[in-house]
Amino acid sequence: MFILGGTSAKNVATNLANRLQQPLMKTTFKRFPDDEFYVRLHDNIAEEDVLLVQTAYPDQRIVELFLMQDAVHEAGAKTITVVIPYFGYSRQDKKFEEGEPVSARAIAQHISMNADRVITVDPHKEHVLKFFTVPAYSCSAVSSIAAYLKERNTDFILAPDKGAKERAKEAAMLIDCEYDYLEKTRIDGFTVKITPKKLDARGKHVAIIDDIISTGSTMAQSITELKKQGAASVSVACTHGLFVGGAKEKLLASGCDEIISTDTIETEYSKVSTAECIAKILLKTTSHIKN
Ligand code: R5P
Repeated sequence: MFILGGTSAKNVATNLANRLQQPLMKTTFKRFPDDEFYVRLHDNIAEEDVLLVQTAYPDQRIVELFLMQDAVHEAGAKTITVVIPYFGYSRQDKKFEEGEPVSARAIAQHISMNADRVITVDPHKEHVLKFFTVPAYSCSAVSSIAAYLKERNTDFILAPDKGAKERAKEAAMLIDCEYDYLEKTRIDGFTVKITPKKLDARGKHVAIIDDIISTGSTMAQSITELKKQGAASVSVACTHGLFVGGAKEKLLASGCDEIISTDTIETEYSKVSTAECIAKILLKTTSHIKN
């Protein structure tokens, strides 16, 4: 098997190559003067199984993914497994208003064109996997995040909304501590309202867990609530750290003690590796792809 690490997932690809003891492909990536992407593969991958790792976010990286898939296909690979650590557009998983696209489906269908199998990490909603027209699987980074938080002596887990409740429950079980959740109402893309609720957090080292930190509004409001109720420290942990629109500043201003993310999007806060969960699902589903 050959592993091709795209520009948006270099660390995940390298960690996977080390873990699976398989070679990383030699590539040339560059941009033309008009900013169009160029890729060239230098290994002979005819009749080989290829693992292509690229986060599908932001838009430019999605185009890169399509071109890399085409290059792998042109080079005659036997099978192409596309690993998408973060599946961008997955939050538009249905038509919320008349006239809108189902963006997750549109992207999934295009990725499926040159893929035999797709693997992603913690999709916002599991049903987006059905939008791929090839076998698609997800794995969860929760246990790796929980292991990191346990090391930090976390003694209370909070979900900032009902959607993250199961994630918080699982992490709390692994850490062996209490958990709770808040009620959140989204006002617009940048604003959320958290309903105040009495939490058993006084004097505790709390971690708030979510799948995505985007603008940081959800986490910032939750941190404020926890600090008001006397938490000793509050850290935030997510799988996908987008950190857009001044999110870091917002989190720090609300009193956040530590920001933790995985490497599905590579940032200064990528402290948890997803290679283990990806490798596990890869090995478990290898027999499901055509040969
Ligand atoms: C939404 O349901 C997600 O799970 C996250 O809570 C949301 O994407 C976080 O967004 P933001 O950081 O902009 O509040």
